[in-house]
Amino acid sequence: MLEAKHLTKSFGLVHAVNDISLNVKAGQTYGLVGSDGAGKTTTLRLLVGALRADGGEITICGHDVRRQGEQARANIGYLSQRFSLYEDLTVLENIRFFAELRGLARDEWLPRCLKILDFVGLAEFKERRAGQLSGGMKQKLGLASALVTRPKVLLLDEPTTGVDPVTRQDFWQLIIRIAAGGNVAVLLTTPYMDEASRCHRVGFMRGGRILAEGTPSELRASLEGRIVEARGPSLPELRKTAANIPSVEDVRAFGDKLHLRVAPGRARTVIRDLKGDGAEARLIPPTLEDVFLSLAS
Ligand SMILES: Nc1ncnc2c1ncn2[C@@H]1O[C@H](COP(=O)(O)OP(=O)(O)O)[C@@H](O)[C@H]1O
Ligand SMILES: [Mg+2]
Repeated sequence: MLEAKHLTKSFGLVHAVNDISLNVKAGQTYGLVGSDGAGKTTTLRLLVGALRADGGEITICGHDVRRQGEQARANIGYLSQRFSLYEDLTVLENIRFFAELRGLARDEWLPRCLKILDFVGLAEFKERRAGQLSGGMKQKLGLASALVTRPKVLLLDEPTTGVDPVTRQDFWQLIIRIAAGGNVAVLLTTPYMDEASRCHRVGFMRGGRILAEGTPSELRASLEGRIVEARGPSLPELRKTAANIPSVEDVRAFGDKLHLRVAPGRARTVIRDLKGDGAEARLIPPTLEDVFLSLAS
């Protein structure tokens, strides 16, 4: 549905997107995960054709974005990171605006908009002014607007950033239903690791590059046997002790515990050393956060 090969885009000296390739199949969700400035928004803007790539190829539902831009874009729904609503228009008027912008006729837009508002859970708020919606409801209206043309490819730029945890859950239920039910290819960006683990595939992005890519379990497997959880009476002391063990590559605090990344094959000795020092230590399955952090160092 969505395929990008060797995409690059620079702004002056900044390589915002540096040789990115990815593809998303129908019914799948792909999560581009990275911190601020990683290049996530630029990637999405290239994919929707809002920016012209310096190099590379993009195909959307078989249409080359450069040569068949209009056909390609007709298949895309896009929720931008800072999309704006008309605050003094109602929910229904806002979504109608998007529908008419995309060329939907009058007798088409009303039933479809009502159906989508119902789907995202905004039906009972359709007469409310957008300015009076909560942050989560605004995001849902943004999603509704992106769905108005029944896209086969849906691009969502940090759809859940700043949204409360309950609404984030709702939002994820919607995304899963859109992908699976509508046979839609969903590409979303997020800074949140727990959201990454909900995607079929994940790409960890930094400095314009995808540093690692795969299913969440494939990514976790790369650190299998190398994450040791440790606790002790004094976390600062334990941290010092752990950092002094040569085969410990990295130490991070996770609440009242430490996660140590150890060199391959060294976990047993590290655990023995820590226990010898009176700490509790055990091997744990790596989290996606462990994987992401291991790429950073
Ligand atoms: N229009 C632009 N002009 C100049 N630099 C830009 C522009 N858009 C993005 N950048 C730079 O490109 C890099 C990637 O930005 P962006 O794609 O917005 O990252 P993210 O969405 O992951 O936070 C950053 O260094 C940013 O400052
Ligand atoms: Mg961004």
